[in-house]
Amino acid sequence: MSKTRIAAIDVGNDSIKALFGKADFEINIPNVMARDTEDRPVIGIEELNENDPLDGIHIKVHSPALKENNVIYRVGNLATKSDHATELDLGSSKSEEDQTLVLLFATLALDAVREENGPSFKKTNQVIEANYTLGTGLPLREVKEGKDVGYRSQLLSSVHQVEFLVTPKYQGLKVNIKFDEVKVYPEGFAAYINLVMDRDLNIINRDLIDKRILIQDIGGLSTDIAVIKNRKVDDDKAQGFNIGVSESLEAIREEIRTKHGVELDSRRDVVEIITKKNDRNHIMVKGSRTSVHDITDRILLELAKKQYRHLRNIWQKNSQTEICYFVGGGAMVLKDYLKALNNSLDGYNIDFFEDEKESIWMMANAYYKLISDFNRKKQKEVEFTQTEKKSVKS
Ligand SMILES: Nc1ncnc2c1ncn2[C@@H]1O[C@H](COP(=O)(O)OP(=O)(O)OP(=O)(O)O)[C@@H](O)[C@H]1O
Ligand SMILES: [Mg+2]
Repeated sequence: MSKTRIAAIDVGNDSIKALFGKADFEINIPNVMARDTEDRPVIGIEELNENDPLDGIHIKVHSPALKENNVIYRVGNLATKSDHATELDLGSSKSEEDQTLVLLFATLALDAVREENGPSFKKTNQVIEANYTLGTGLPLREVKEGKDVGYRSQLLSSVHQVEFLVTPKYQGLKVNIKFDEVKVYPEGFAAYINLVMDRDLNIINRDLIDKRILIQDIGGLSTDIAVIKNRKVDDDKAQGFNIGVSESLEAIREEIRTKHGVELDSRRDVVEIITKKNDRNHIMVKGSRTSVHDITDRILLELAKKQYRHLRNIWQKNSQTEICYFVGGGAMVLKDYLKALNNSLDGYNIDFFEDEKESIWMMANAYYKLISDFNRKKQKEVEFTQTEKKSVKS
């Protein structure tokens, strides 16, 4: 029997963040995919052996959980270059999109095929049998609608196959993914766990644990505000909104295109322009350094105002809140704007994470803590029943 491997995966609308095993491996890929009608043109042997597989994810996916089966996709960076790439759209439900599953399976397969995992998984011919214990999450809104139940059971109930086509290093390999256990956590709750507990679920932040706090997670397409009281997420008070930074990034991209005639590849390029350390808010136009500050300022301030209105609304309904943390990539992008608004308006006690990795990997880290703890407890139970059986026999 092959062993089970821990996987903690945050399928963000913008990018997938994943941690594996003893946190010995992590993956971050953009949540972009493109259908491929024909096989990718054959590439040279060197390219196949030496390039980074993550830059050439080209796969065929088979799973009863998918609406469309046996479709060939380019995923991540490779898809960005395609002219019919799909990034998830506003109003879509993560739990109901094939894209969520394709990215999830691709991520798992990319862990499973690594040589380092040879000892854990059985491999016959070119097929790897991979067993995972998965911790993942859905936005509060979808969990409140009960969508986590169906999502979990379709993952659990079958084997999902990823076949690597023209992918560096892994061409021709197939991975059969099976889940021993799947836990679907609500995103807001996970953020709280990550703030107050370490990897063994020991409390690391005594100061915070009994406070009434808000966590506003600004993602690519959605914003979740979790209300925490008595160490629990208040389900009735928590709110999810169909608003993130993607739309604004897209608007910035579009305006740069019409105003300066410069075509940026993706939203990621926009993020780079507005967050880079040197020469922030500038682009090159026909070789001349050009400011786009007017465009970015106007669009991002507008979004920050909307986000601030949500905060104000929730704070009014939870007047005894002590602090609100802003997390997610959106918090990085909007930090300065939100701080400025807060200074001139209500002056709430708000905070951000300095380290972008902490802010953006918040959910993946939380799922990792929760699923590892779950696994440890399960292992103990198994050991306990085995000793029980032995003592009955003897
Ligand atoms: N290092 C970074 N600095 C600033 N912004 C970033 C950074 N990385 C990503 N972003 C931007 O922040 C936005 C949200 O990123 P994040 O990873 O939090 O979203 P997500 O979790 O994938 O989406 P969602 O929470 O809606 O599912 C994205 O549009 C992204 O472009
Ligand atoms: Mg997110």
